[in-house]
Amino acid sequence: MRSKTRIAFLAATAITALALAGCSGTGGDNAGDSAGDGAATSPTVMKLALNQPETHPSYIALEAFGEQLKEATDGRWDIEVHANSTLGNQDEYLQSVSQGVIDLAIVSAPQLENLNKEFVLFSLPKVFDNIDHQMSVLDDQELVGDVYSSLEESNNISVVGGLTQGERSIYTKDGIVETPADLAGKKIRVQESPVFLAMIEALGASPTPLPFGDVYSGLQSGVVDGAENNEISYFSNKHHEVAPYFSLTRHLVGADFLIINSDTLAEMSDEDRAAFDEGWTAAWEHHTELWKTDTKTAVADAEAGGAEFAEVDTEAFAEALEPLIDEFLTEDSQIALYEAIRSAAE
Ligand code: GCU
Repeated sequence: MRSKTRIAFLAATAITALALAGCSGTGGDNAGDSAGDGAATSPTVMKLALNQPETHPSYIALEAFGEQLKEATDGRWDIEVHANSTLGNQDEYLQSVSQGVIDLAIVSAPQLENLNKEFVLFSLPKVFDNIDHQMSVLDDQELVGDVYSSLEESNNISVVGGLTQGERSIYTKDGIVETPADLAGKKIRVQESPVFLAMIEALGASPTPLPFGDVYSGLQSGVVDGAENNEISYFSNKHHEVAPYFSLTRHLVGADFLIINSDTLAEMSDEDRAAFDEGWTAAWEHHTELWKTDTKTAVADAEAGGAEFAEVDTEAFAEALEPLIDEFLTEDSQIALYEAIRSAAE
């Protein structure tokens, strides 16, 4: 069977791109085939953009998702994961998915915060107690369904669901940071969002926004003195080589989201959509399991590579960040969702 790649460019770009790439159309043909007798047809290969390497749990779980989807839909739908930021940075993914240049992407919560303030909740400290609490919330359509569909009309983006980023901590080039006071005068890389800027400012450091793919060189060249992330992203992106002091501040449990172009989702037949949803559930469960084991391995591997991990005064960090909750939860809908998330933890 001839394999075609489907690229849903808009307007004139579509004609050129499709002619060049020998692509199928925007899916109407596939949707028709898949709703019919179930006979195998040319697959719709959805491109998924990821800013992590192939060793990262997100890559592993999403690759397996693609395989499962292909099998369950008799080859009608497939996912091609593009790792290592080869399709750009996360802020670009939003636009590419919105326009249908690519179908799927993994973006961090702060990127979505720039489109709808309700997503800010998923980046605040003390919202999630731990990964299990977080994943039960991120998979609860009653709690988060409206937020997930909130970008469909405005941006043509549907949020499929969340993946954990685990606990985020601060790492630096020149020594462990035991309390926020040790951060004074340091430039710390942040994700490009108001909440992350405010967070680093509240800790007394200088926030420097940089795309994730530029963090290694930013640390190496001294554009920044440190960054904050989880152990897996730290090791799998080799940041330990240039910032070997990992202070376990555990200031929040971060979230990534799988987003999809809403038109692409609408093209799936009911049967294929059910297979997609089932595959996604298996993927995030797989990811959550991998997360727990890989975090331990990442610490051991980073230590073997010269990194130092140290417990710090987590209470002092939590105290400095506490005002962010009131500062960023200003709308009734945000507060209601925050309270529902908190009661799900109790
Ligand atoms: C985590 C997350 C990424 C995000 C990155 C960042 O590693 O999984 O999606 O881009 O943090 O700090 O930018």
